[in-house]
Amino acid sequence: MKETIVILDFGSQYSQLIARRVRECHVYCELLPHDAPRSEMDSLNPQGLILSGGPASVYEQGAPPLPDYVLESGLPVLGICYGMQLLAHELGGEVTPSSRREYGPATVEIDAPCVSLFRDRPLSLKVWMSHGDRVTRLPPSFAILAHSESSPVAAMGNPDRRIYGLQFHPEVSHTPQGKEILWNFLRHDCGCQGQWTAASFIEEAVAGIQAQVGRARVLCALSGGVDSLVTACLVRQAVGDQLTCVFVDHGLLRKGEGEENLRLFRETLDLKVRCIEAASRFLARLAGVTDPETKRRIIGEEFIRLFEEESQRLGPIPFLAQGTLYPDVIESAGQGKKDAARIKTHHNVGGLPERMAFELVEPLKRLFKDEARAVGLALGLPQVAVYRQPFPGPGLAVRIIGEVTPERVALLQEADAIVREEIEAAELGRQVWQYFALLTPVRSVGVMGDGRTYQNVVALRAVVSEDGMTADWARLPPELLARMANRIVNEVPGVNRVVYDISSKPPATIEWE
Ligand code: XMP
Repeated sequence: MKETIVILDFGSQYSQLIARRVRECHVYCELLPHDAPRSEMDSLNPQGLILSGGPASVYEQGAPPLPDYVLESGLPVLGICYGMQLLAHELGGEVTPSSRREYGPATVEIDAPCVSLFRDRPLSLKVWMSHGDRVTRLPPSFAILAHSESSPVAAMGNPDRRIYGLQFHPEVSHTPQGKEILWNFLRHDCGCQGQWTAASFIEEAVAGIQAQVGRARVLCALSGGVDSLVTACLVRQAVGDQLTCVFVDHGLLRKGEGEENLRLFRETLDLKVRCIEAASRFLARLAGVTDPETKRRIIGEEFIRLFEEESQRLGPIPFLAQGTLYPDVIESAGQGKKDAARIKTHHNVGGLPERMAFELVEPLKRLFKDEARAVGLALGLPQVAVYRQPFPGPGLAVRIIGEVTPERVALLQEADAIVREEIEAAELGRQVWQYFALLTPVRSVGVMGDGRTYQNVVALRAVVSEDGMTADWARLPPELLARMANRIVNEVPGVNRVVYDISSKPPATIEWE
């Protein structure tokens, strides 16, 4: 039987992190919205439940309540922050607003070292706190398991009922023992053994794909990115020759990327791939368009139309395999953050036209990026393919600010190739999450030789990140920045100025559009 944990998401910014930590313990888990119906939880047949934190106060009107099934199920429950306060509130304890908000590092002293949660852990733990309210009276039959200077109840529990609460956040890296505490809960209370691995995932995904598509054919669009590549390799493992791959060269790729991709697909991975040269078609549709979301929608739509035409020509092919990942699914559902604004239309989810003649096959849609990479390695994909930096589906169209023309694409390809060459030569490729050049719509005055120039401004972007959700600008060595800027101005006609983007995400995003 597959071990599964359900995490009910009460809206904390750390909810996804809880899921990642549980999976790092090799236990499969899914995040469900806090108001998910019981049937959804039951269908996952979990061994335990985790309640996330959240921005609300339990006594406030409209605060998300604890679903009845949580306590009725008799399953082990771990409440974190708001999750703990909710347990205390529901079980007859008391939660009160604290006179001061506790935010940041703290030290907690363990009062019950024998309780499963803290077994084999030090008696004093560095943790991360982020809360206003706190538990001031325990529910009957509960004990204090840990305290800190400002939180008399830093952890509480009723080990007989296997119900626990943590006021601090075990899921964040600022709680160094956090993963071990979660693993203690999973192992000792939920009875998990940690058997969810890349190999077990592959086995299950292959069986799932076979059950979904039967003897029908599947079309998979490769972009060169790791997600679509891993998807194609999984589908091939599941249904062999029923898979047809296509690679669309939309003319918005980086310099040399089209040929490199085809070599990887055909020679290294022995995938049968048809290459569709569609640059003129995409560029024609983008002519005169400057609005970022319009660009994204046009490109997403054009992709699907191409796939539909291709499946008519080859087929018909009823299934389309896509490398959608878990964060895309969570974010597009707005789970736990129902009022969240749509920032960008990522074309593998949000940009799909409503009229679409395919049923989707999305074997990675419950995986985080690093998990998809681990699956790629387990499938035997080469490191260079697995650790490629992310590249947006709409390609250089969202890195050319303003109108996209063939000349501007060519100019940006040259500048970008220099950036990639220099960062790779400096061996910074693995430390920096993404690095690229952008073409701004700005022209500036310069002087070259004895003459005045009035030319394009290229911007450089390099960021460090763990998952692309937040990012910081990379502190690249000044000599490296100087070399890139010099080379771009000297080697790329039409550019007389280079600037470096020093914005983090938030408030900026990684791509400019
Ligand atoms: P932003 O710009 O939103 O980007 O901070 C976060 C990460 O997502 C990549 N990105 C995309 N990936 N399709 C994709 O597959 C897209 O439409 C898309 N837009 C942005 C971006 O490069 C960064 O890694």
